[in-house]
Amino acid sequence: MAKKLSVIGVIGQKGGGGKTTIAINLAVTAARQKFTPVIIDLDQQTNSAKWRDRRKPDNVAVVATPAARIKATIETAASHGADFIVIDAPGHNDSAAIETVRASDLVILPVEAQMFHFDTLPAMRDIIRLGGDTPTWIVVNKLHPATSVMAKKLKEMIFGIYKIPVCPAHICRYDIYATSADEGLIPEEKKSTHKAALEIRELYKFVTQQLNNARGSHVRQDEKSAAGA
Ligand SMILES: Nc1ncnc2c1ncn2[C@@H]1O[C@H](COP(=O)(O)OP(=O)(O)OP(=O)(O)O)[C@@H](O)[C@H]1O
Ligand SMILES: [Mg+2]
Repeated sequence: MAKKLSVIGVIGQKGGGGKTTIAINLAVTAARQKFTPVIIDLDQQTNSAKWRDRRKPDNVAVVATPAARIKATIETAASHGADFIVIDAPGHNDSAAIETVRASDLVILPVEAQMFHFDTLPAMRDIIRLGGDTPTWIVVNKLHPATSVMAKKLKEMIFGIYKIPVCPAHICRYDIYATSADEGLIPEEKKSTHKAALEIRELYKFVTQQLNNARGSHVRQDEKSAAGA
């Protein structure tokens, strides 16, 4: 079976919503499932690239490049064996977000559960349309762990108002997301029993299921389980 290339874009207009956090978590989780991930960091802040500079394990590559180079960078990464590409888009840069949507098989749009974030969603819907309507899922981020019981209602409400599908997996606010990133790691690598590690496994599982549904198959030749969580 031919090796499939998957491209996941992570976009969001609002700064600090969790784009880089989700990008690095998905990429490392893919590496742990024996994929060969590359993060394409489109943001001038180069947070993903700096995270990689701090990182000791050598299983995730990060390429910082302007949005105009997305297609060429994907082709180069694929020619070097990458099979799981995550694009970490900048906030406040609609043209980069449109290019990210255009280049992706699946788009993740993290939002915090506050109106300042929700207010960006109509514009994000336009960006998704301009990028060719790539399947896009909102991921609710930084939920208070104690309020996560309300998460289902919140997701239904967001979809009802903004008409963008909402991922059933959400992410709670846990310090370990920041403290692990400070060391170039993800929560799974710092404490695999932490709830943050569990919720990222759920998110990864959802993402790979969507890729499988959309594209038939997202398994390596050696048939390692992509959604092994
Ligand atoms: N679920 C979470 N719990 C706790 N902290 C989080 C969580 N998600 C992200 N953070 C922290 O919030 C800050 C912003 O997250 P991140 O850098 O991923 O957002 P971003 O959307 O990439 O921001 P930017 O638009 O500036 O690129 C970081 O310090 C990150 O560690
Ligand atoms: Mg970022």
